[in-house]
Amino acid sequence: MTQDELKKAVAKAAMDHIAPHLNRKSVIGVGTGSTANFFIDFLADYKNEFDGAVASSEATAERLKGHGIPVYDLNAIDELEYYVDGADETNERLELIKGGGAALTREKIVAAVAKTFICIADESKKVDILGAFPLPVEVIPMARSHVGREIVKLGGDPVYRDGVTTDNGNIIIDIHNMDISRPIQVEERINNIVGVVTNGLFARRPADLLLLGTSEGVKSIP
Ligand code: A5P
Repeated sequence: MTQDELKKAVAKAAMDHIAPHLNRKSVIGVGTGSTANFFIDFLADYKNEFDGAVASSEATAERLKGHGIPVYDLNAIDELEYYVDGADETNERLELIKGGGAALTREKIVAAVAKTFICIADESKKVDILGAFPLPVEVIPMARSHVGREIVKLGGDPVYRDGVTTDNGNIIIDIHNMDISRPIQVEERINNIVGVVTNGLFARRPADLLLLGTSEGVKSIP
């Protein structure tokens, strides 16, 4: 199977998982990226069976609206049962690196609110130790140099993601060669640097369910 076929399979599996729980008042949190895009396309088939969605990026909001799915401001929502999103890396404990698409902050906010975070990913994303994928950090523009220097003190190699502005008007620094054997500690340390909005480690709030696309079918973890 191609990587796209695996992504489509996990997106379908997520839809099958939540479909029996939808009702006219349901609002679904929707992530960003190519795997999430497949999920949005499946979600569109059910648009008369739920109320609408909360989007983790402007790109996702546009795709949802394109399918005729209402998009709500998160502040207007009382309850978010599900958040469905991809990842750049996941370990066995469902701790993740996200933000390859620069949407990490809004993704983290929606994941924090949702009762159940379903991560959908193809098997290339599964690793023993996080960190081969450079860790994205969203940074207030004027703090770029300061944050870079602090990252070096923590043992990482910061690389400014040239030409990228987040939906929140900030920049992205990708950290290469960081030791992430203790993900919660690393997530907290980076978030404590003044000027950091947040980083792409989802360790304090890992996924609740991982649907992993493999050549033998979709594996459900745990
Ligand atoms: C977006 O900022 C990311 O967190 C995505 O969830 C991640 O990059 C996965 O993207 P793909 O599904 O395109 O691999």
